[in-house]
Amino acid sequence: MIDLPGRTALVVGASRGLGHGIATGLAEAGASVVTVSRTPVEFARPAAGAGTVRTEVADAGDAAAAGLLLDRHEPDIVVLVAGASPLMRPLQHHTWETFSVNWETDVRIAFHWLREVLLKPLRPGSRVVVVSSGAALAGSPLSGGYAGAKATQRFITAYAQDEAGRAGLDITFTAVLPRITPLTDLGRAAAQAYAARSGQSEEEYLKQMGDPLTPDAAGTALVDLVRRDAAQVAPAYLLTGAGLKKLP
Ligand SMILES: NC(=O)c1ccc[n+]([C@@H]2O[C@H](COP(=O)([O-])OP(=O)(O)OC[C@H]3O[C@@H](n4cnc5c(N)ncnc54)[C@H](OP(=O)(O)O)[C@@H]3O)[C@@H](O)[C@H]2O)c1
Repeated sequence: MIDLPGRTALVVGASRGLGHGIATGLAEAGASVVTVSRTPVEFARPAAGAGTVRTEVADAGDAAAAGLLLDRHEPDIVVLVAGASPLMRPLQHHTWETFSVNWETDVRIAFHWLREVLLKPLRPGSRVVVVSSGAALAGSPLSGGYAGAKATQRFITAYAQDEAGRAGLDITFTAVLPRITPLTDLGRAAAQAYAARSGQSEEEYLKQMGDPLTPDAAGTALVDLVRRDAAQVAPAYLLTGAGLKKLP
């Protein structure tokens, strides 16, 4: 098990939702956390003896942001959570611009940050987690290019792992695919749209999905993941309210 006190974790996309829970969980486990988001956010002061949270206001999709922030903070752990909320409507009601929003945000962010992690490179033993989506496994017919963009995030996380291995860099890359949860802005809009499409109330739709993933539970799962020995870490996991499940 890896100790988090003394380690710096950079969480990209942490002003709300799952990223906020992940940043809070890492700080409570003792890490020095740096958050990145476009809007400023206040975090509750972690309990005595826990880690710290500092915030950076930046657009993570900006080509210069990744290199600059990695150089400034020299993190041991990088968690890419940031993503755009897709417009929820059937394919024919999308424009190319609404269809491609997650390619222009989520994939762009993963591309810039993974590239900079490899070029820098992060120090040996570093961990990189990319938050993709369960939609990457089954599709998401109401959210345009979202599922494909999230699948591409998973692919390029594996590409980065391969490049790191070829270059002899001891960096571990993992994709985490959360299942839809109504407890964030993004997930609530998606749950409402799918409930309406299936003629169910939002409550009925969510009931069949089991316990929802909370931002706190996402934080607990990520702490568990980054504390595991690298040899025990799989390339990808599904994340539900019940925790992480290794993907084949
Ligand atoms: N909630 C779900 O049901 C669910 C399911 C599967 C996967 N996911 C994935 O999990 C991740 C987090 O989702 P969420 O539900 O927590 O979403 P959310 O509540 O909408 O939060 C998104 C976060 O990303 C940040 N962000 C977006 N664009 C950014 C940019 N260009 N630069 C910096 N930060 C940026 C936002 O901060 P600012 O707006 O302040 O910049 C915010 O902190 C996403 O990648 C999403 O696709 C979510």
